[in-house]
Amino acid sequence: MTDTRRVDAYEKVTGKAAYGTDRVPEGVAYATLAVARIGRGRVSHVDTTAAEAVPGVLLAVTRFDADELRGAGFIMGGGFSFQSLQPLLDDHIAYRGQPIALVVAETLVAATEAAELVTAEYDTEAFAVHLDAEGATTLVQEEAIPLPFLADIKVGDADAAVDASPVRIDSTYEYAAQHAVPMELNGAVVEWRGDTLVVHEGTQNAAALRHGLAEQLGIDAADIEVRSPYVGGGFGQKNSLQPHLGPLALVARRLGRPVKLVLARTQTFHNGSFRPATRHRVRLGADASGKILAAVHEVDQQTSRHDLFPAMHTEITSRLYGFPAFRGRHRLVQTDVQTPGYMRAPFESSAAFAFESAVDELAYATGRDPVALRLANDTMTDPVTGRPFSTRFLAECLRRGAEEFGWADRNPEPRSMRADDGSLIGWGVAAGTYPGSIVPAVAHLTAGADGRVTVGVDGHEMGQGIRSAVALLVSRDLGIPVRDVEVRVGDTRFAAQHLTAGSWGTASALPAVHSGLRELRKHLNAAGTGDVDVAAAVERAGRPVEAEAGALGPGQPPEALDQAKSGHLAISGPVFPEFSTFSWVAHFVEVRVEPTTCRIRVPRVVSVVDCGRVASPVTAASQVRGGVVWGIGGALREESLADDRFGGFLNATLEEYPIMVNADVHRIDVGFVDEPDLLFNPVGVKGLGEVAMVGVAAAVANAVHHATGKRHHRLPIRLDDVL
Ligand code: MOS
Repeated sequence: MTDTRRVDAYEKVTGKAAYGTDRVPEGVAYATLAVARIGRGRVSHVDTTAAEAVPGVLLAVTRFDADELRGAGFIMGGGFSFQSLQPLLDDHIAYRGQPIALVVAETLVAATEAAELVTAEYDTEAFAVHLDAEGATTLVQEEAIPLPFLADIKVGDADAAVDASPVRIDSTYEYAAQHAVPMELNGAVVEWRGDTLVVHEGTQNAAALRHGLAEQLGIDAADIEVRSPYVGGGFGQKNSLQPHLGPLALVARRLGRPVKLVLARTQTFHNGSFRPATRHRVRLGADASGKILAAVHEVDQQTSRHDLFPAMHTEITSRLYGFPAFRGRHRLVQTDVQTPGYMRAPFESSAAFAFESAVDELAYATGRDPVALRLANDTMTDPVTGRPFSTRFLAECLRRGAEEFGWADRNPEPRSMRADDGSLIGWGVAAGTYPGSIVPAVAHLTAGADGRVTVGVDGHEMGQGIRSAVALLVSRDLGIPVRDVEVRVGDTRFAAQHLTAGSWGTASALPAVHSGLRELRKHLNAAGTGDVDVAAAVERAGRPVEAEAGALGPGQPPEALDQAKSGHLAISGPVFPEFSTFSWVAHFVEVRVEPTTCRIRVPRVVSVVDCGRVASPVTAASQVRGGVVWGIGGALREESLADDRFGGFLNATLEEYPIMVNADVHRIDVGFVDEPDLLFNPVGVKGLGEVAMVGVAAAVANAVHHATGKRHHRLPIRLDDVL
């Protein structure tokens, strides 16, 4: 079967794909948020008089009662929400941009105008919005957060080993706070159909919405349906219950009408999670040949005052090379912002920027080629556990990437390569890795008399192509055309739909579908592996044939499935009893630095990935390109500027928060090792979505160093940093 297309491409490009808030139910009313304009304090009075006088305004709510609305808890603390703070419950203002009123009107225009007329009086308090702000509180993560979040990593006496090494690197790197700006804004349409609450929302975690809302509103989860067939970019920001959803359900019930809320873009900068700012100190000790003897990676990461968002940066840096000794340590810095959270390769992109920049420094300090140095430090053993990696083809990624890029022609001397127009050319390389995780998943397959197979499975389609991966697996297994497979994801009517994130979507859904196919074949009397005449088999059975099967991570207890079904996190990996699983990547980047303006261009990138078996070639390559584009953006464009004067983030618009645009994107060649990891799961797929981005920023920065001779310790690299 050579059909490798994206199965939902047609729906997407023709606009037929309906995203959460695309729905406009009969009688829908429109909600908007009015937000706090102070950095921290108390709101003593909210005046909605002028707002309520706007024609068409139905309702303005400043406070819900504690017995009608409860907080849903922080997702990383056993709850369902991106943060523990539930707005509109008390007078406490934890950060600029926190909602102080929910306004509902007949039209969006009226609701928007009314929200702007809401005024408030505040008692202000001092606030701290960045790592170095006065009043920011530093906590050692291991002491602040009860396990199982990542504790300090200690292998041998890394500090002593670094100190005793003949070659030492000691560098500090900073990665800016960043905000995901998905095309689909956070928002929801909620409607009560009798006692049933139907939620249409682009989310990566329909189960958390369902069970979180049930807890918040004191209703039965069985009376809540969440529908999220497509997500217009999740990136981690849509991984949990959003704090506006409970209030929205309540006003819809009060009004007896469906209500729709879509956050304004600028509001998403304070009402959604973001990638926290980090500072990394990396120390490397090596012998004269560049063989790494020890590494120490210490991270300070911003969090909010009300939640401790755990940092997990050293989970990947400790696995990059065969370290005889390693120490990793995280500290959390409490600041007055909404709780930060996951944003594509949330820790790994900044961690790899810091660590792989330091490794590049080591290559220069020892006179080794940066690719050769990485190959010399490769390992097949997890340095932290001492057990093998299930698969690790990093060396092949590096060799193939170098070959395809033409790395052998690189003159290692900085400022030595120039283009015809006088631009400095820089070539940089970096490696990346991302943990392999699996969550429990259930697949329900139905074969119909028309020969079509419908698959309801745990997973959400947020652009990564999970529908295509599932459809291709079913098509190949049964020998039926892809068009005869219908895949239903993101909808609590078809599966529990717990969190799709952490690059585990495909590696979790496909094993369940794989098992489901074994069952279905039995019921169709078509055991084995040959093609199946589905229509004929169903006709013999005299009715549609159904099969259901679940899958767990390696060694994961069956109770994990119940945990997942109740909307709670149930993750296994990357460390399993017998092995560790990670995906691997090598990025090769060319930059050109224009001599007068110092404008940096990235004309070409070669990325080679080990993500196990490639489940869907078209969507996989596309996913890698997207990750590379975002990585370049991290290196050269994106930064959320903390606002010392008024709190929160200053550049909370797309005009002032530059992201990569088409004109910034040039040639990106993607290669795959495509070797199945059959220890990880029977389909052999590992994660891809996030590893694609890991190391890109480092490769860009290393290329800029090669072009200009200047090492950049802080991202993004701007013109004035290069001049
Ligand atoms: Mo991803 S940042 O784990 O949704």
